[in-house]
Amino acid sequence: MERPSVISTLEQAVKARPMPRHVGIIMDGNGRWAESRGLPRLEGHREATSSVREVTRTARRLGIQALTLYAFSSQNWARPAEEVAGLMDLLREYLERERSEILDNGIRLNAIGDVDRLPRYVRDPLDRLRADSAHNTGMVLSLALSYGGREEILHAARRLAEAVERGELAAGRLEESDFEQFLWTQGLPPLDLMVRTSGELRVSNFLLWQMAYAEMCFTDALWPDFRTDEFLRCVSQYQQRERRFGLTSAQVQREDAPQQAKA
Ligand code: IPE
Ligand code: IPE
Ligand code: MG
Repeated sequence: MERPSVISTLEQAVKARPMPRHVGIIMDGNGRWAESRGLPRLEGHREATSSVREVTRTARRLGIQALTLYAFSSQNWARPAEEVAGLMDLLREYLERERSEILDNGIRLNAIGDVDRLPRYVRDPLDRLRADSAHNTGMVLSLALSYGGREEILHAARRLAEAVERGELAAGRLEESDFEQFLWTQGLPPLDLMVRTSGELRVSNFLLWQMAYAEMCFTDALWPDFRTDEFLRCVSQYQQRERRFGLTSAQVQREDAPQQAKA
């Protein structure tokens, strides 16, 4: 009989415990992965798509409801034009190549960010896949494209102000939920776990509002090296944390703790 591998043992252990509902990943380190091999940076971005496929499959297998991948930031537009163009080409290839994988696995593809800034040849396959997967209920895979957390908050604030001007909402009675309905992540579960690869200890404008009570997993692995086992380690770390949401440990452990504290 085949011995279970270390990875599948870890996966079984992870599966037996409560899963984060929404995981966000800052997929960083593609350039360094390539440069350390004497390759052009774009080769790192190309290899990154294999990690995207593998982590998406694993998240789906684990039953995670929502996975949000930071693929291109608002600030990344300022990179050399050649790198931006290469990234856009890879994005289009990804959307075409992964189409059947996404549809066959019941995944709903979503995009967050200022997607109107993307070139047509990316927006078209993106819109098509979003529409064709709209009724899937397995997992929401959100690609953060031309995304910035501050940009998202500003965009939401503008739309909220417009709703107030139209008299639909009263400024003095606004609740967090009123604000959240204007965020690009509207309808997604709260962010439970944020992962960043490549050893950088910063959030680089990712999901700033949503991150308020997310658990963090920072790993030195460069994104092209980040595969199932690394992902499972992050989920496992998350499962070992006590999420207190401002309460004491004793409160959280009490049966009557408020719902949010036990979320
Ligand atoms: C992350 O990898 C991908 C994007 C930001 C598009 P990087 O390209 O930032 O890789 P490093 O950080 O330079 O190694
Ligand atoms: C964050 O990585 C953006 C993405 C992963 C898409 P960056 O490489 O752009 O972040 P900084 O510049 O190191 O903060
Ligand atoms: Mg980087």
